[in-house]
Amino acid sequence: MKHIPETMPEQDFIQYREAAHLSGKTRYIPDMELYRGTLNGFAVSSPHAKARLLNLDVSLARTSPGVEAVLTAQDIPGPNTMAPVIDDEPCLLPVGGTCGYLGQVVCIIAADTMENAKKASSLIEWQWEILDPVLSVEESLEKKDFLFDPLRLKRGNPERVMKNAPYRKKGSLDAGGQEHYYFETQAAYAVPLHQGGLLIRSSTQNPTDNQRFAASLLGLKASDVEVQVGCLGGGFGGKQAQATWPVAWSALLACKTKKPVLFILERDQDFRLTGKRHPFKVNWEVGFDHQGHILALEISMAYDCGWCNDVSIAVLHHCIFHLDGAYYIPHMDALLYGCRTNKPSNTAFRGFGVPQAISVIESVITQIAHTLGKDPAIVRWKNYYGIRKNNLTPCNMLVEHNILRAAHRQIVNKSDYFGLRKKINAFNKKHDSVKQGLAMVPGKFGISFNESFFNQAGALINIYRDGSVLIHHPGTEMGQGLHDKMRTVVHRELGVSTEFIRVADTSTSIIPNTTSTAASTGTDFSGSALKDACDKLKKRLNPIALKMMGLEKGKVIWENNLVFCKESGKSVPFKELAFHSYMTLESLSEKGFYKRENIGFNLESMTGRPYWYYVMGSSVAHVELNLLTGRFRILDMWILHDCGVPVDEGIDLGQIHGAFMQGLGWCTMEKLITNKNGRLETDSLDNYKIPGIYELPEHFHIEFFRGNPEPHNIHNTRAIGEPPLIYALSVWLALQDARGTTLPIPATGEELIKPLYHEE
Ligand code: MTE
Ligand code: MOS
Repeated sequence: MKHIPETMPEQDFIQYREAAHLSGKTRYIPDMELYRGTLNGFAVSSPHAKARLLNLDVSLARTSPGVEAVLTAQDIPGPNTMAPVIDDEPCLLPVGGTCGYLGQVVCIIAADTMENAKKASSLIEWQWEILDPVLSVEESLEKKDFLFDPLRLKRGNPERVMKNAPYRKKGSLDAGGQEHYYFETQAAYAVPLHQGGLLIRSSTQNPTDNQRFAASLLGLKASDVEVQVGCLGGGFGGKQAQATWPVAWSALLACKTKKPVLFILERDQDFRLTGKRHPFKVNWEVGFDHQGHILALEISMAYDCGWCNDVSIAVLHHCIFHLDGAYYIPHMDALLYGCRTNKPSNTAFRGFGVPQAISVIESVITQIAHTLGKDPAIVRWKNYYGIRKNNLTPCNMLVEHNILRAAHRQIVNKSDYFGLRKKINAFNKKHDSVKQGLAMVPGKFGISFNESFFNQAGALINIYRDGSVLIHHPGTEMGQGLHDKMRTVVHRELGVSTEFIRVADTSTSIIPNTTSTAASTGTDFSGSALKDACDKLKKRLNPIALKMMGLEKGKVIWENNLVFCKESGKSVPFKELAFHSYMTLESLSEKGFYKRENIGFNLESMTGRPYWYYVMGSSVAHVELNLLTGRFRILDMWILHDCGVPVDEGIDLGQIHGAFMQGLGWCTMEKLITNKNGRLETDSLDNYKIPGIYELPEHFHIEFFRGNPEPHNIHNTRAIGEPPLIYALSVWLALQDARGTTLPIPATGEELIKPLYHEE
């Protein structure tokens, strides 16, 4: 961000991604230049939440004006599946199959215009046997209708300890889902290549999965399909698994018609078809002592996964490993159910099960405090993970570089937490209909894919003979600033100014077998792989540089567009080194690779090391709630966040703002409503409220926690993309504090206006 010139030439959007996003110059799939003869793709969905497809006749639709292809399950050359983890998700619903939700795609149409494709869809003839849908987790729990075996994480002897605990408290919580509302809906553009195979431009976080399924559905090999990604208009997890859909559909239609096919989901369709953040219901019981120490915790949590797996099992794993929050819990028993319902398949969403987990454990802490008449901040302090003892998580992972108590102390001082508490008490005594509230939420968020094999990345650096540098890495740019951060990493390693470094679009042909840009690991993985490539380049080019300086040996430093040797005071410009290396037959291209080994856990015992490191921090929210209108203001919001040494403070700050606001939407305003037929009624911004500028805290104090570099990561940084989302839960808890009642998620205006005497 620091390197952006004040005036930006028109064509510079590739160089300065963040500036391009802000000025609206970034081009997404719908903004692309299209090949002549490009067709438009349209998906035809099941009108029922649960029904058997008895027969299907598309012959009339095929004759409709402008239509070039109508494809059904029968027309898929390869196996009819695009399930990322467990094989339970067909690409198109076959005749005889039962649809899992209202919206499941039955056939796809390619026509000269979108209008003609839609017109043709009305000519499709089908018959359904309508079945009763399951729309609540209660019902699937009763029927034991789970997508996979329940997960259990148990430590110690919670039954015995619970029985003997001086205090016991039970609670429950009902939390809703969340629509990703990426500004660019799911989209892909498939182009048949003259030499065979396909080139697909996709709005995806996961190009390799796109490639994998496009190839397998078409009966091709992965090497026949290239997936390229420019920049996503947001992903937020929603384009980890489900971006495969338009890729698969456009690829099938392009192969059939031998023409390029553009497939863009319209907003309401995207809303209805794609999965959301997982809603859940939880019951818990905690045993504690008179000081508020948690002695035992039992949790039973039912996750609404929707009709098929998608990545649900991974979301539940990430959740179960975070139910401890920032706290040492000696005896614990957590049971998680992945419930099947006839709704869209819920999927990855920023936080990936962690916000859900934190909402539970922070409710538990708050309730302990209320029972004992203590301030919740004091109960938090009592229970934090220790540095030398009480530092093993329930899955047996060691909590290292623990700054929880240091962050707590700092944020208490910064916010004058206890002084504010007194002022709020005085205010609330004076006011009947307006109440203020205060709450703290600490953060501890594990970084890595729990699944070991995902923890790898490749990279490629090309230096050209003019001294310019092109970098390729496996990550996708979705507005989180990854490409700009990668330029900074290479700039620091090679000493080349950022204006000479360009980041290429992501491509499966250049970096193969990529892992999804997810779990906030983009900077860690791509950055480390790029550093490896830089190290190798420097090792090869150092002797050439020394020779050019007329030296036999010496320590070579790459800085300020120069390669120099301090002891001798000699240097060569990077540009000249590049040219000379080329002229003397030295390769200027280098691959890099990075892997994180020994991450993972035992599926039976649920123990191991699911994360490389933890990201920590803390937050405090001060709110004012009008009990008569249900409206609230965030008077002050403090966030103290440790991302080690930020690669780019401007970008990281932006991520904290964005994650917090998105979390605020989930816990206070975004409410999804499904009617009794399984139709999502909230399918536009007319009836679904996402946070806007007016919802910003009136005073937003964000600071980086300094002095805790991450020793085992690229440039001592820590991941930033998802963790700050959980700080929004402090607003949710502050609203409960103001009302003196518990609240569901989202705590919408309707919840906040409920008369107080209706509560227990
Ligand atoms: N920020 C923007 N602007 N847009 C996004 O889609 N996705 C989030 C986060 N920040 C997202 C974002 C999610 S869910 C993740 S996992 C990370 O970015 C992924 O990118 P990273 O690994 O480079 O942090
Ligand atoms: Mo993020 S939910 O891991 O894409």
